[in-house]
Amino acid sequence: MPGWRLAHRRAVTARPRCRSNRCCASSRDGAIAGIGEGRNAMTTRRLFITGTDTNVGKTRCAAALCHAFAARGFTVGAMKPVASGCLRTTDGLRNEDALALIGAMTVRARYEEVNPYAFEPAIAPHVAAQRAQVRIDLAQLDHAFERLSLRSGVMIVEGAGGWLTPLDEQTLLSDLAQRWQLAVVMVVGLKLGCLNHALLTQEAIERHHGALAGWIVNAVDPEMQAAKESIDTLRARLRAPCLGSLPWAPGESARETAAQLDITALL
Ligand SMILES: Nc1ncnc2c1ncn2[C@@H]1O[C@H](COP(=O)(O)OP(=O)(O)OP(=O)(O)O)[C@@H](O)[C@H]1O
Ligand SMILES: [Mg+2]
Repeated sequence: MPGWRLAHRRAVTARPRCRSNRCCASSRDGAIAGIGEGRNAMTTRRLFITGTDTNVGKTRCAAALCHAFAARGFTVGAMKPVASGCLRTTDGLRNEDALALIGAMTVRARYEEVNPYAFEPAIAPHVAAQRAQVRIDLAQLDHAFERLSLRSGVMIVEGAGGWLTPLDEQTLLSDLAQRWQLAVVMVVGLKLGCLNHALLTQEAIERHHGALAGWIVNAVDPEMQAAKESIDTLRARLRAPCLGSLPWAPGESARETAAQLDITALL
Protein backbone atom coordinates (compact mmCIF):
# COMPACT_ATOMS: atom_id res chain seq x y z
CA MET A 1 0.00 0.00 0.00
CA PRO A 2 1.53 3.38 -0.95
CA GLY A 3 2.64 5.61 1.93
CA TRP A 4 0.00 8.24 1.30
CA ARG A 5 -2.75 5.62 1.61
CA LEU A 6 -1.42 4.38 4.96
CA ALA A 7 -0.99 7.92 6.22
CA HIS A 8 -4.44 8.84 4.99
CA ARG A 9 -5.98 5.83 6.70
CA ARG A 10 -4.21 6.70 9.97
CA ALA A 11 -5.29 10.31 9.75
CA VAL A 12 -8.91 9.49 9.01
CA THR A 13 -9.21 6.94 11.79
CA ALA A 14 -7.06 8.59 14.46
CA ARG A 15 -8.00 12.24 14.23
CA PRO A 16 -11.24 14.07 14.80
CA ARG A 17 -13.03 14.31 11.49
CA CYS A 18 -13.28 18.05 11.70
CA ARG A 19 -13.49 20.93 14.09
CA SER A 20 -17.23 21.34 13.72
CA ASN A 21 -19.52 19.76 16.30
CA ARG A 22 -22.31 19.64 13.77
CA CYS A 23 -20.07 17.83 11.37
CA CYS A 24 -18.91 15.23 13.91
CA ALA A 25 -22.42 14.71 15.23
CA SER A 26 -23.59 14.06 11.73
CA SER A 27 -20.75 11.60 11.19
CA ARG A 28 -21.62 9.79 14.40
CA ASP A 29 -25.27 9.47 13.59
CA GLY A 30 -24.35 7.83 10.33
CA ALA A 31 -25.53 10.52 7.94
CA ILE A 32 -22.44 9.98 5.82
CA ALA A 33 -21.13 6.78 7.35
CA GLY A 34 -21.44 4.84 4.14
CA ILE A 35 -19.82 7.32 1.82
CA GLY A 36 -16.22 6.28 2.26
CA GLU A 37 -16.75 2.67 3.14
CA GLY A 38 -17.34 1.03 -0.20
CA ARG A 39 -14.98 -0.22 -2.84
CA ASN A 40 -13.49 3.24 -3.24
CA ALA A 41 -12.91 4.00 0.45
CA MET A 42 -9.82 6.15 0.91
CA THR A 43 -8.62 5.59 -2.60
CA THR A 44 -7.67 8.29 -5.06
CA ARG A 45 -10.91 7.76 -6.93
CA ARG A 46 -12.28 10.49 -4.69
CA LEU A 47 -10.11 13.53 -4.94
CA PHE A 48 -10.01 16.94 -3.32
CA ILE A 49 -8.24 19.52 -5.44
CA THR A 50 -6.59 22.17 -3.34
CA GLY A 51 -4.03 24.79 -4.27
CA THR A 52 -1.28 26.99 -2.96
CA ASP A 53 -3.59 29.99 -3.34
CA THR A 54 -6.57 31.28 -5.21
CA ASN A 55 -6.12 31.63 -9.00
CA VAL A 56 -3.42 28.98 -9.28
CA GLY A 57 -5.22 26.65 -11.68
CA LYS A 58 -7.35 24.40 -9.44
CA THR A 59 -10.27 24.52 -11.86
CA ARG A 60 -8.02 24.03 -14.85
CA CYS A 61 -6.49 20.95 -13.20
CA ALA A 62 -9.78 19.63 -11.78
CA ALA A 63 -11.42 19.79 -15.21
CA ALA A 64 -8.36 18.18 -16.79
CA LEU A 65 -8.43 15.39 -14.20
CA CYS A 66 -12.09 14.76 -15.11
CA HIS A 67 -11.04 14.27 -18.74
CA ALA A 68 -8.03 12.15 -17.78
CA PHE A 69 -10.17 9.72 -15.77
CA ALA A 70 -12.92 9.74 -18.39
CA ALA A 71 -10.34 8.81 -21.03
CA ARG A 72 -9.58 5.72 -18.94
CA GLY A 73 -13.22 4.72 -18.96
CA PHE A 74 -14.34 6.01 -15.56
CA THR A 75 -17.63 7.75 -14.98
CA VAL A 76 -16.68 11.06 -13.42
CA GLY A 77 -18.63 13.42 -11.19
CA ALA A 78 -17.37 16.71 -9.84
CA MET A 79 -18.27 19.31 -7.25
CA LYS A 80 -17.49 22.86 -6.26
CA PRO A 81 -19.26 22.64 -2.91
CA VAL A 82 -19.07 26.34 -2.06
CA ALA A 83 -18.36 29.11 -4.55
CA SER A 84 -18.20 32.87 -4.29
CA GLY A 85 -17.88 35.19 -7.26
CA CYS A 86 -20.98 33.94 -9.05
CA LEU A 87 -22.97 35.52 -11.85
CA ARG A 88 -26.66 36.25 -11.51
CA THR A 89 -28.47 34.53 -14.39
CA THR A 90 -32.09 33.74 -15.18
CA ASP A 91 -31.46 30.25 -13.77
CA GLY A 92 -30.01 31.65 -10.53
CA LEU A 93 -26.46 32.22 -9.39
CA ARG A 94 -23.92 30.43 -11.52
CA ASN A 95 -20.21 29.94 -10.90
CA GLU A 96 -17.64 29.63 -13.69
CA ASP A 97 -15.70 26.89 -11.91
CA ALA A 98 -18.79 24.78 -11.37
CA LEU A 99 -19.80 25.25 -15.02
CA ALA A 100 -16.31 24.20 -16.14
CA LEU A 101 -16.56 21.07 -13.99
CA ILE A 102 -20.01 20.29 -15.36
CA GLY A 103 -18.54 20.61 -18.85
CA ALA A 104 -15.76 18.16 -18.03
CA MET A 105 -17.53 15.51 -15.96
CA THR A 106 -19.35 12.60 -17.54
CA VAL A 107 -22.34 12.08 -15.26
CA ARG A 108 -25.43 14.23 -15.62
CA ALA A 109 -26.29 16.36 -12.66
CA ARG A 110 -28.36 19.34 -11.68
CA TYR A 111 -26.33 22.52 -11.16
CA GLU A 112 -27.29 22.56 -7.47
CA GLU A 113 -25.79 19.12 -6.92
CA VAL A 114 -22.43 20.26 -8.29
CA ASN A 115 -22.49 23.63 -6.55
CA PRO A 116 -24.91 23.61 -3.61
CA TYR A 117 -23.76 26.98 -2.24
CA ALA A 118 -23.24 29.88 -4.65
CA PHE A 119 -22.61 33.47 -3.54
CA GLU A 120 -22.43 36.55 -5.73
CA PRO A 121 -19.54 38.65 -4.36
CA ALA A 122 -16.02 37.47 -5.10
CA ILE A 123 -14.96 37.43 -1.46
CA ALA A 124 -14.06 34.78 1.13
CA PRO A 125 -16.84 32.16 1.11
CA HIS A 126 -17.66 32.40 4.81
CA VAL A 127 -17.95 36.19 4.57
CA ALA A 128 -20.12 35.87 1.48
CA ALA A 129 -22.33 33.41 3.36
CA GLN A 130 -22.60 35.77 6.34
CA ARG A 131 -23.54 38.69 4.07
CA ALA A 132 -26.17 36.57 2.36
CA GLN A 133 -27.37 35.46 5.81
CA VAL A 134 -26.92 31.86 4.77
CA ARG A 135 -25.68 29.14 7.10
CA ILE A 136 -23.70 26.51 5.22
CA ASP A 137 -25.36 23.23 6.13
CA LEU A 138 -22.87 20.36 6.02
CA ALA A 139 -25.70 17.84 5.82
CA GLN A 140 -26.83 19.46 2.57
CA LEU A 141 -23.31 19.26 1.18
CA ASP A 142 -23.15 15.61 2.26
CA HIS A 143 -26.39 14.93 0.49
CA ALA A 144 -25.15 16.39 -2.80
CA PHE A 145 -21.83 14.58 -2.50
CA GLU A 146 -23.55 11.30 -1.73
CA ARG A 147 -25.99 11.59 -4.63
CA LEU A 148 -23.23 12.36 -7.12
CA SER A 149 -20.88 9.73 -5.68
CA LEU A 150 -23.49 7.03 -6.11
CA ARG A 151 -23.34 7.43 -9.87
CA SER A 152 -19.66 8.36 -10.28
CA GLY A 153 -16.70 5.99 -10.35
CA VAL A 154 -14.49 9.01 -9.72
CA MET A 155 -15.36 12.15 -7.77
CA ILE A 156 -13.35 15.34 -8.19
CA VAL A 157 -14.07 18.03 -5.60
CA GLU A 158 -12.58 21.48 -6.04
CA GLY A 159 -11.89 23.55 -2.95
CA ALA A 160 -11.89 27.35 -2.86
CA GLY A 161 -8.82 29.46 -2.25
CA GLY A 162 -6.23 27.38 -0.39
CA TRP A 163 -6.24 24.45 2.02
CA LEU A 164 -7.35 26.32 5.16
CA THR A 165 -10.14 28.44 3.70
CA PRO A 166 -12.86 28.87 6.36
CA LEU A 167 -16.44 27.79 5.70
CA ASP A 168 -17.83 29.21 8.92
CA GLU A 169 -16.66 29.85 12.51
CA GLN A 170 -15.86 26.19 13.13
CA THR A 171 -15.34 24.52 9.80
CA LEU A 172 -12.69 24.77 7.15
CA LEU A 173 -13.26 23.76 3.57
CA SER A 174 -10.53 21.18 4.05
CA ASP A 175 -12.74 19.50 6.66
CA LEU A 176 -14.83 18.29 3.73
CA ALA A 177 -11.82 16.35 2.48
CA GLN A 178 -11.62 14.64 5.87
CA ARG A 179 -15.37 14.17 6.17
CA TRP A 180 -15.70 12.62 2.70
CA GLN A 181 -12.39 10.75 2.90
CA LEU A 182 -10.97 12.38 -0.19
CA ALA A 183 -7.36 12.00 -1.26
CA VAL A 184 -5.74 15.38 -1.79
CA VAL A 185 -4.12 16.70 -4.94
CA MET A 186 -2.34 20.05 -4.60
CA VAL A 187 -2.00 22.48 -7.49
CA VAL A 188 1.09 24.63 -7.18
CA GLY A 189 0.77 27.91 -9.07
CA LEU A 190 4.30 28.48 -10.29
CA LYS A 191 5.14 32.03 -9.23
CA LEU A 192 7.46 33.76 -6.82
CA GLY A 193 6.60 32.62 -3.30
CA CYS A 194 5.07 29.32 -4.35
CA LEU A 195 7.75 27.15 -2.73
CA ASN A 196 6.86 28.49 0.71
CA HIS A 197 3.13 28.12 0.00
CA ALA A 198 3.55 24.60 -1.35
CA LEU A 199 5.60 23.41 1.62
CA LEU A 200 3.23 25.05 4.12
CA THR A 201 0.27 23.45 2.39
CA GLN A 202 1.96 20.04 2.41
CA GLU A 203 2.67 20.40 6.16
CA ALA A 204 -0.92 21.37 6.91
CA ILE A 205 -2.35 18.53 4.82
CA GLU A 206 -0.09 15.99 6.49
CA ARG A 207 -0.85 17.33 9.97
CA HIS A 208 -4.62 17.43 9.67
CA HIS A 209 -5.51 14.96 6.99
CA GLY A 210 -2.87 12.55 5.76
CA ALA A 211 -0.32 12.38 3.01
CA LEU A 212 -0.72 14.16 -0.28
CA ALA A 213 -1.80 11.85 -3.10
CA GLY A 214 -0.15 13.96 -5.78
CA TRP A 215 0.62 17.45 -6.99
CA ILE A 216 0.56 19.39 -10.23
CA VAL A 217 2.74 22.38 -10.98
CA ASN A 218 1.02 24.96 -13.16
CA ALA A 219 2.83 27.86 -14.84
CA VAL A 220 0.51 30.76 -14.06
CA ASP A 221 3.15 33.46 -14.51
CA PRO A 222 4.74 33.69 -17.96
CA GLU A 223 7.42 36.02 -16.51
CA MET A 224 8.49 33.57 -13.80
CA GLN A 225 12.26 33.35 -13.54
CA ALA A 226 14.19 30.24 -12.52
CA ALA A 227 11.06 28.16 -13.12
CA LYS A 228 13.05 24.96 -13.70
CA GLU A 229 14.96 25.34 -10.44
CA SER A 230 11.71 25.93 -8.57
CA ILE A 231 10.16 22.82 -10.08
CA ASP A 232 13.29 20.84 -9.15
CA THR A 233 12.92 22.10 -5.58
CA LEU A 234 9.27 21.03 -5.51
CA ARG A 235 10.24 17.59 -6.79
CA ALA A 236 12.89 17.28 -4.09
CA ARG A 237 10.72 18.48 -1.22
CA LEU A 238 7.17 17.33 -1.91
CA ARG A 239 6.49 13.84 -0.58
CA ALA A 240 4.08 12.75 -3.32
CA PRO A 241 4.15 11.96 -7.02
CA CYS A 242 4.11 14.82 -9.50
CA LEU A 243 1.13 14.30 -11.83
CA GLY A 244 2.22 16.92 -14.32
CA SER A 245 4.04 20.14 -15.05
CA LEU A 246 1.76 22.42 -17.05
CA PRO A 247 3.17 25.25 -19.15
CA TRP A 248 1.73 28.75 -19.49
CA ALA A 249 -0.89 28.09 -22.13
CA PRO A 250 -3.76 30.56 -22.28
CA GLY A 251 -6.76 29.21 -24.12
CA GLU A 252 -5.74 25.58 -23.84
CA SER A 253 -8.74 23.25 -23.48
CA ALA A 254 -9.22 21.00 -20.45
CA ARG A 255 -8.89 18.01 -22.75
CA GLU A 256 -5.52 19.27 -24.01
CA THR A 257 -4.38 19.85 -20.45
CA ALA A 258 -5.51 16.32 -19.52
CA ALA A 259 -3.17 14.85 -22.12
CA GLN A 260 -0.26 16.33 -20.16
CA LEU A 261 -1.21 14.69 -16.85
CA ASP A 262 -0.02 11.30 -15.70
CA ILE A 263 -2.67 9.90 -13.35
CA THR A 264 -1.06 6.47 -12.99
CA ALA A 265 -0.29 7.15 -9.32
CA LEU A 266 -3.99 7.81 -8.70
CA LEU A 267 -5.32 4.57 -10.14
N1 LIG B 1 -1.10 27.27 -17.28
C1 LIG B 1 -1.89 28.32 -17.52
N2 LIG B 1 -1.65 29.12 -18.58
C2 LIG B 1 -2.42 30.18 -18.83
N3 LIG B 1 -3.47 30.54 -18.08
C3 LIG B 1 -3.77 29.78 -16.99
C4 LIG B 1 -2.99 28.64 -16.67
N4 LIG B 1 -3.53 28.08 -15.56
C5 LIG B 1 -4.58 28.82 -15.23
N5 LIG B 1 -4.73 29.85 -16.07
C6 LIG B 1 -5.75 30.90 -16.01
O1 LIG B 1 -5.63 31.50 -14.74
C7 LIG B 1 -6.91 31.77 -14.19
C8 LIG B 1 -7.06 31.03 -12.86
O2 LIG B 1 -7.11 29.63 -13.12
P1 LIG B 1 -8.17 28.75 -12.35
O3 LIG B 1 -9.52 29.38 -12.45
O4 LIG B 1 -8.04 27.36 -12.82
O5 LIG B 1 -7.62 28.95 -10.86
P2 LIG B 1 -8.29 28.48 -9.49
O6 LIG B 1 -7.18 28.11 -8.57
O7 LIG B 1 -9.32 27.47 -9.77
O8 LIG B 1 -8.96 29.83 -9.00
P3 LIG B 1 -10.08 29.96 -7.82
O9 LIG B 1 -9.31 30.10 -6.55
O10 LIG B 1 -10.79 31.24 -8.22
O11 LIG B 1 -10.97 28.77 -7.86
C9 LIG B 1 -7.92 31.35 -15.25
O12 LIG B 1 -8.24 32.46 -16.03
C10 LIG B 1 -7.15 30.34 -16.08
O13 LIG B 1 -7.62 30.24 -17.40
MG1 LIG C 1 -11.33 27.49 -9.35
